Amino acid sequence: MSKEQKKYTTQELNSMSNEELARLGTELDEVTVAYRKERFPIANDPAEKRAERAITIWFVLGIVLALAFMAIYLFWPWHYKDLGSEGLWQYTLYTPLLGITMGLSIMSMGVGAVQYVKKFIPEEISVQRRHDGPSEEVDRRTLVALLNDSWETSTLGRRKVLKGAMAGGAVLAGLAVMAPLGGMIKNPWKKGPLGIQGDGTLWTSGWTLSNEGVKLYLGRDTGAIAEEHHGHYSTQGISRLVRMRPEDLSAGSMETVFPLPAEYVNDGESYDPNRDVYEMQMHSVHGPRNPVMLIRLRTEDALKAVQREGQEDFHYGDYYAYSKICTHIGCPTSLYEQQTNRILCPCHQSQFNALHYGKPVFGPAARALPQLPITVDDEGYLVAAGNFVEPVGPAFWERRS
Ligand code: FES
Repeated sequence: MSKEQKKYTTQELNSMSNEELARLGTELDEVTVAYRKERFPIANDPAEKRAERAITIWFVLGIVLALAFMAIYLFWPWHYKDLGSEGLWQYTLYTPLLGITMGLSIMSMGVGAVQYVKKFIPEEISVQRRHDGPSEEVDRRTLVALLNDSWETSTLGRRKVLKGAMAGGAVLAGLAVMAPLGGMIKNPWKKGPLGIQGDGTLWTSGWTLSNEGVKLYLGRDTGAIAEEHHGHYSTQGISRLVRMRPEDLSAGSMETVFPLPAEYVNDGESYDPNRDVYEMQMHSVHGPRNPVMLIRLRTEDALKAVQREGQEDFHYGDYYAYSKICTHIGCPTSLYEQQTNRILCPCHQSQFNALHYGKPVFGPAARALPQLPITVDDEGYLVAAGNFVEPVGPAFWERRS
């Protein structure tokens, strides 16, 4: 009778030591250990101590770097700094330092783990024959014994410092990966001062400033960037947003515009090459609910336009301004199709009818695109005639429209 055919009783199994069970498991699994060598067969080998120290250093280094990552993430001055302003170099270093500390932390722990396996886990070559069918009790018991044996032979149980360093390193590296997610958790109801991006709540935008009597032009994005002046780059005299006149847009076309407060205008007759309004204008461009599609309908189409009740005077002649933020889940609805007068959101193919107050006609969006009231001022520039009358963007609890 071969060994694998013998049935072991519970008493027999109970009477075996862990080592005997581990050996039995190996035999029953038809595993042949072709080669096995302990890394440090002699007790108190100084080389073993040295190896343990070196590995501990790698893990401690991983911990220190993970802590450095946390400290940088929490305390480093990360707020945007303009070119030439104080603290620019600290701001510039923020992202590289996060990447370097996190990358080196994970790398140190990886090196430590590889070194540990190479230095302490016995060198072994085993060959096993595959067989079918479910495992019997003896197999299950011997497997547990083998796992226990692996823990013993890993010698980790008695290496307290190294074990602590490994556990600490794993926890901190995990935290370093998780911590940046914390920055994404925001309170959408927290109200701050009203600015060019709204007051922080979901129902305000830069256009809300018009409620406070601020004159807001429809600012066209020029895409201008910093220019070189006498060997250094500067945004002085550069206007990212410029005012628009109705004649700047041809019939059947669309332009994305952003709120441009009168105070930050630097173009046309009032252009001053020494003023720097770039940063403020970029805040407007980055406002999540600020982009508006200014559409100039073809006159023959504009004659067919249907106005929403209460919003009959929101348009200026053939010019209509709709929020660019899709009412489905907030993508930019950037595609205006002149032939059909439809506005298409590329995310999930919602379509809105520009001739029918931005009403959805296809796709998952259920609400019309909010319309911005617009007009032309005394100087002939397009301006907001007020704020949106409903919140911009997708649905949320408080929305009633
Ligand atoms: S976000 Fe526009 S269709 Fe889904």
